[in-house]
Amino acid sequence: MSKYPKINYIGNKDKLVDWIIDNFPIKKGVVLDLFSGGNSVSYALKEKNYTVYSNDALYSNFVISKAIIENKDKKLDENVLNTKVTESEINKKYNNIKFLTNRLYYEQEVKELAKLFVISEKIEDEYERYMFLALIRRAMIRKLPYSRMNVPWNQIQKLRDEEYSYKKYKRRRAYHNYTFEKHIRDNLENYNNAVFDNKKDNKSFNYDAFDMLDNLPSKVDIIYMDPPYPATMNKYGDFYGLYDRAVNHEIKYVNFSENNMFLNNLEKLIEKCIEKTKYIVISESNKTKPTVEELSYMLSNYGKVKIFSKEHQYKVTGSENKNKTIEMLIVLKVKESS
Ligand SMILES: C[S@@+](CC[C@H](N)C(=O)[O-])C[C@H]1O[C@@H](n2cnc3c(N)ncnc32)[C@H](O)[C@@H]1O
Repeated sequence: MSKYPKINYIGNKDKLVDWIIDNFPIKKGVVLDLFSGGNSVSYALKEKNYTVYSNDALYSNFVISKAIIENKDKKLDENVLNTKVTESEINKKYNNIKFLTNRLYYEQEVKELAKLFVISEKIEDEYERYMFLALIRRAMIRKLPYSRMNVPWNQIQKLRDEEYSYKKYKRRRAYHNYTFEKHIRDNLENYNNAVFDNKKDNKSFNYDAFDMLDNLPSKVDIIYMDPPYPATMNKYGDFYGLYDRAVNHEIKYVNFSENNMFLNNLEKLIEKCIEKTKYIVISESNKTKPTVEELSYMLSNYGKVKIFSKEHQYKVTGSENKNKTIEMLIVLKVKESS
């Protein structure tokens, strides 16, 4: 049985995917997950036998998508970690990624990371390479307090001190101090078990949402959107972007989370989408702005709108505080053009 692997993605829809997809207006066809993030929705769509196109502006998300959405059958052998690499290859790579030293990790750790990136470049099979890159991503995140890349270095050092962490939080969090390699070994089976073939040609993309629509291979049945709303935990570039920089795959993309521009940008995107799909499905919650009423009002210019809602508790990272939220799903049936 295939199973969505351990990803650690802030704002993921892991606990809500069944409810989201149960409310999709059609039960088969091609779905574009335009802001796919940790790919929890794309993965569940693949399990439910849709054809999935998954897109995200961050390369660190694209590698997950290549590994478990587009990939049908390629698994990774643990022996890949024994690939021979030379000191000079490691030093050259270290020079490219040394900006991570004393920013996210200690020098020796960044050297280990450099070695792993060199190994990744030697993996010939495309999907095995993406599996390995997704595992490197997971290892990088596991080693970081709060599972994100924008915690200041002095804070990281403090929280990685197991005695301090134990005194203060009653947890040692020793996994922050494991090697990258140990994390990769620990997660390998989990990632391999996530690989399966739903007999559809699923595809992964790494574009800004607007460019994605220009590059869509064909019309789709549903475009699903879970965009970064203003005033939520939404700084995805800050959370994960240093991975993209380390592998030299950064793209420019529209900043949706800027408060006063969100609705404007979203409407421009909807105008592009309606040429390319029969339905648009948008995730929202009662905690986000613009409100569901504002969104539905804008969307009603483009077709018939239906709203679904469900009570949901998001667990806030690093606290016991549980936050009650009403999760919403807005379904737009696009007006047929005359
Ligand atoms: C709320 S998250 C999606 C979470 C996802 N549904 C999941 O379950 O993991 C929003 C995503 O939008 C991506 N994003 C932000 N701006 C974008 C843009 N202009 N084009 C494409 N993707 C963008 C972010 O990198 C982030 O992964």
